[in-house]
Amino acid sequence: MSLSIREYGSGYPVVLLHAFPLDGRMWETTAKALVEAGFRAIVPDLPGFGRSSGNPEVSGMEFMAREVAETLDAAGVRKAVFCGLSMGGYVLMRLLALRPSFFKALVLCDTTPAADTDEKRRSRRGTADRVLENGSGILVGSMLPALVSASTIRDNAPLMDRLADIVREQPPSAVASALRGMSERPDSTGMLSDAGVDTLLIFGDEDVVTGSDALDLLRSAIRGAEVRIIDRAGHYSNLERPEDFNSALVPFLLSHTDH
Ligand code: MLT
Repeated sequence: MSLSIREYGSGYPVVLLHAFPLDGRMWETTAKALVEAGFRAIVPDLPGFGRSSGNPEVSGMEFMAREVAETLDAAGVRKAVFCGLSMGGYVLMRLLALRPSFFKALVLCDTTPAADTDEKRRSRRGTADRVLENGSGILVGSMLPALVSASTIRDNAPLMDRLADIVREQPPSAVASALRGMSERPDSTGMLSDAGVDTLLIFGDEDVVTGSDALDLLRSAIRGAEVRIIDRAGHYSNLERPEDFNSALVPFLLSHTDH
């Protein structure tokens, strides 16, 4: 089953994969900057999120990667630059293992190649049960404040409201299924070391979900990876500091495509 995608502009394709528990709308501002720079942005909603349906009880990262591959095949995309934030990055690491020929270059934002600890797995399963019982809205209070920087909480109420709306709109079954899927994801460190794909790493300097340990793992796994740190951004760096994020992303895209 193909995923619902939003497409913007024309030019070299850049595929943007969203974080948890959001959907493709988190990339709206980024996609606009890509169109202005002459790229075609392709933004899927991952299984069950946004306008996509079809999540099983457990949406493993590999399952999601296969769905993305099928969707791109159906859209006639043979090669692209892929950019994923957090869960989007987990999915991209599985897609890279499955279909390396897709990748012109890779952008990993606020994500980690590490698998979950046992404690994290247990906590995700508990959260999945609570979401199924009480709705996705419980994540607005329990999760959202940890995902953004202190200055975003203080100064950007419209973004906080928008994020809360997007989280509440996600079907509980999709959220629970992704939580279970993330809990089962394998370690991707070795695969990244072998992949040899040109990579940019973008991290918010106040990201407490995937912080400097995650960045260090990625840096040592991917030889020659470029790194851009976004000041005063937490985990959702592209949403919190869109201009700084785009200033990190666009030059990398320009220099890694026949633009
Ligand atoms: C995300 O932003 O996609 C999540 O924080 C990922 C996670 O929970 O590991």
